[in-house]
Amino acid sequence: MIKVTGLVKRFGGTAVLDGIDLAIEQGEIIVVIGPSGTGKSTLLRCLNFLERPDAGRLIIGDLDVDVTRASRADILTARRRTAFVFQNYALFANKTALQNIAEGLIVVNRWPKEKAHARAREILERIGLADKADAYPASLSGGQQQRVGIGRAMAAQAEVILFDEPTSSLDPEWVEEVLGLMKQLARERQTMLVVTHEMSFARDVADRVIFMEGGRIVEQGPPDQLFGSPQDPRTRDFLHKVLATQVAIDTPT
Ligand SMILES: Nc1ncnc2c1ncn2[C@@H]1O[C@H](COP(=O)(O)OP(=O)(O)OP(=O)(O)O)[C@@H](O)[C@H]1O
Ligand SMILES: [Mg+2]
Repeated sequence: MIKVTGLVKRFGGTAVLDGIDLAIEQGEIIVVIGPSGTGKSTLLRCLNFLERPDAGRLIIGDLDVDVTRASRADILTARRRTAFVFQNYALFANKTALQNIAEGLIVVNRWPKEKAHARAREILERIGLADKADAYPASLSGGQQQRVGIGRAMAAQAEVILFDEPTSSLDPEWVEEVLGLMKQLARERQTMLVVTHEMSFARDVADRVIFMEGGRIVEQGPPDQLFGSPQDPRTRDFLHKVLATQVAIDTPT
């Protein structure tokens, strides 16, 4: 189980996260939605200590820390238990698909190279890119690069995979293959916390949808409830705007 309480992050004087409480059960698929600038990425980044939070308590398995007092060892433990999938893939350009997946196992987990490469090959099979093991990112499509990004997160065998808008940099033609891989992980009950604007993914896959605004969780619930009968006017307003644009895009002219 992963749990944060009272999570605060300030930039300058502004509380970008203003007291977030969130518990994630093992195997749970959570989608986070909300307007731009509302702290969604910051939430994910704080869970991984890519940003240093200003207050809060973080529990991941047997790690239980006051985030302001986390030692270097605590931070490394938190990072090992939370894998990150970035919007822009963040692959090493000078490493092959196989090496990109194996790198973290070698550097972070200190696995011998052979063992890490063997795991990377298994992962490449699972993500449907076995034939691209020796390809460099520049020769892969956006969709393939993001599947490698997800493969790298899978290899880490983290408690949770944090996805920050994994499809929003992709050309539309590659979105479905990446969502398809994420759905495969969801079926395997990989614990996931996903920031996305893909409402149909949220509706089909999420156990719980969280609506954030202004650094707070405004409302959360199962997708049927949150999309079907949102209680807070801010949630209704947001969904109205987002669903209007998505329907407009989906509707042939
Ligand atoms: N490193 C930083 N330094 C200063 N301000 C920052 C930093 N990172 C984020 N912010 C600010 O914090 C707020 C929340 O940003 P965040 O990226 O978490 O929002 P978001 O909900 O992910 O938005 P989007 O949907 O556009 O990705 C924004 O006002 C942003 O400008
Ligand atoms: Mg963001």
